[in-house]
Amino acid sequence: MKSSPVHGGNIYEIASSQGRSIHRVLDFSASINPLGLSPVVRRAIRQAIPFAVHYPEIESLSLRRQLARIHKISEGCLAIGNGSAELISLIPRALHVRHGLVIGPTFVEFERALTQAQARCTYVLAQSDSDYTPPIDEACTLLDQQTGIRRSKKQSIDSPIDIVFLCHPNSPTGQVISRAQFHQLYESVQRAGACLIVDEAFIDYCVSRSVLRKVGTMAGLFVLRSFTKFFAIPGLRIGYLAGPEKEVSTIRSLLPPWSVNIVASAAAEAAVQDKAYQRQSVTFMNIERKRFRAGLQVLPYVQRVIPSSANFLLVQLSKDYSVARMVQELCEEGLVIRDCQNFPGIDVPTIRLAVRLPKENDRLLKALKRQPRQ
Ligand SMILES: Cc1ncc(COP(=O)(O)O)c(C=O)c1O
Repeated sequence: MKSSPVHGGNIYEIASSQGRSIHRVLDFSASINPLGLSPVVRRAIRQAIPFAVHYPEIESLSLRRQLARIHKISEGCLAIGNGSAELISLIPRALHVRHGLVIGPTFVEFERALTQAQARCTYVLAQSDSDYTPPIDEACTLLDQQTGIRRSKKQSIDSPIDIVFLCHPNSPTGQVISRAQFHQLYESVQRAGACLIVDEAFIDYCVSRSVLRKVGTMAGLFVLRSFTKFFAIPGLRIGYLAGPEKEVSTIRSLLPPWSVNIVASAAAEAAVQDKAYQRQSVTFMNIERKRFRAGLQVLPYVQRVIPSSANFLLVQLSKDYSVARMVQELCEEGLVIRDCQNFPGIDVPTIRLAVRLPKENDRLLKALKRQPRQ
C-alpha cells in the first residue's frame, strides 16, 4: 500500500494546478457539513485565540469531562486526538494487534494503521449489486471460524483476528446496520476474543444509531468520533475515542503531549453544546440528500445511487464509464469529486459526492448533465 493514501479534500493541489484560489473550488470530495461553522463555534474560536500564548491541557481534561457527562461514561474512558485519524493510527499499535478484520469497502486508514503496526489486514467486502449492504454475516462466519482456531490452539498456522473495524455509517457507502446486526457482530467478536472498533465519524446525521453509550458496559467495544465532518472544522483537527479505561489510557500515553491545540478544544467544547446547529444540520441533510439523490438518479450514465444515512452519496456509473475523464473535466470547472475506484472492494466506475447547499448541488448536477452519456 502507498504511504500516503488518496483522500478527498485535496483542494490545495487542485486549486494550484488550476491557478484558482481555493475559495473558488467547490469540494464535493470531502464530506463536510455544508452549513459551515456554527456561529457558536466561530465565537468560541475567536475567544480562544488569546489563549494561544499558553500550552493546551496535556490530556484535554476539560473536553473529556464534558464528553463524559454527555455520554454518561467515565472521563478515563476517553482520549482526545488531533483528528480521529491520529487515534486510528495508534489503536493497532496500542492494542498489540496482529490481525485485523475490516468491513469494507471503507476508509483506508484502518488498513494503513494495521499495516503500520505490522499487523495483517483481512477485508470482508460488501457488494455493489446489493447496494453495499455491510457483510455482517460474512464477518461473523469468519470470526466464528477463528474462534475454532483459537480454541484448538493452532495459532501458529495463522494469527486469529484480534480487532474488527466497522465504519458506521460507512464511508464511502453511507450504509448502516440494524441494532440486531450490531449485536450479532459484537457477539461473534466477543466469542473470537477480539475487540470491536466502531468509527462513528458520520453518526451525527443518524445519532439514534450510535453505540457510544454502550462503551463501558460492552467489553472490548471502542467508538471513534470526529468533529471534522459534522461541525465543519476539518482544518482544526480534533476527534475522540471512547473505550475500556485501561486500553484507552494506554492510547492516551502514546499520544504526543499537547497533540490537541487550544483553538480546536474550544471549538469542540462549544460544538457539543450547540443543539440548535445539530438539529438544523440533520433536518437540512434529510431534505437535501433526498433532492440531490433524485437529481442524480435520472442521469443517463448513473446505474444506482446507494441510499445513504450520511452527508454524501455513492454513485455507481455504467460499466466502462471513464471516471478519470469526468473527474478531470469537472475539475476544470472548479468542481472536485471523489473517484472511488481506489477503495479496496470497489471495482466498478463509482464516485462519491458530498451533499452540499442546494445551489451548489444544482451547479454540479448541471455540469454532470453535460457529461457524455456513455
Ligand atoms: C470514516 C472516517 N473516519 C475518520 C476520519 C478522520 O477524520 P478526522 O481525523 O478529521 O477526525 C475520516 C476522514 O475522512 C473518515 O472518513
